[in-house]
Amino acid sequence: MLRDYPKEVTLKDGRSVVIRPLTPEDERALRDFYASLSPEDRRYLRHDVADPGIIREWTHNINHERVVPIVAENPGGEIVAAATLHRQPESWSPHVAQIRLVTHPGYRRIGLGMQMAREIFSIAVFLRVEKVVAEVVEDQTAALHIFEKMGFEREALLKNHVIDREHEKRNLVILSAYLSSLWEQITDMVMDSLRVSAGDY
Ligand SMILES: CC(C)(COP(=O)(O)OP(=O)(O)OC[C@H]1O[C@@H](n2cnc3c(N)ncnc32)[C@H](O)[C@@H]1OP(=O)(O)O)[C@@H](O)C(=O)NCCC(=O)NCCS
Repeated sequence: MLRDYPKEVTLKDGRSVVIRPLTPEDERALRDFYASLSPEDRRYLRHDVADPGIIREWTHNINHERVVPIVAENPGGEIVAAATLHRQPESWSPHVAQIRLVTHPGYRRIGLGMQMAREIFSIAVFLRVEKVVAEVVEDQTAALHIFEKMGFEREALLKNHVIDREHEKRNLVILSAYLSSLWEQITDMVMDSLRVSAGDY
């Protein structure tokens, strides 16, 4: 699943980053990355990323069965993006995974968010996840744009579902993409090609 990494990617402004799995050695760099976010960005994040205990937990308890975390690192060794795929194998939705995504304010609008979204999505495909969801506060225009551009559809709007870091209630949009139909198409293609080859003999 992660054998394609590290992967070097050139962004729209010519800068390059290396995308790779998160490791325990990234604790400090990940802390610095979240510290670089504006209060506005942090306002809508699910966790209080200013809490060093949370970052320590994320970097030191990596369990790919539950969370697959990838990061983008610049040539200076700074983390400039993070994306995660969350699964709950023991829950009643073991076939569903959730994508989360954030990029460094100095690296926005140059394709990094979309690249990270594609990477984590392809990991979901590899893991044979059947349905991928993203939970986005309605005000997060950029995130809505990315997921809709990737083909996700708005499946639900939960009103006043989130209390942000400024203690205000916000609507939450749930977007989803169904991979099960993709698997059916692939299976059909393979079966068709097997039938064609069998007919050749
Ligand atoms: C959402 C986020 C990851 C986008 O990152 P990014 O690196 O700027 O994304 P990209 O440069 O790949 O842009 C992707 C698309 O979104 C568009 N976009 C980016 N920022 C935008 C904005 N503020 N308003 C409208 N569209 C925007 C880009 O134009 C691009 O569209 P295009 O491909 O049609 O040109 C980043 O804004 C972020 O980290 N936000 C805070 C955290 C967040 O909202 N996470 C999502 C919750 S899962």
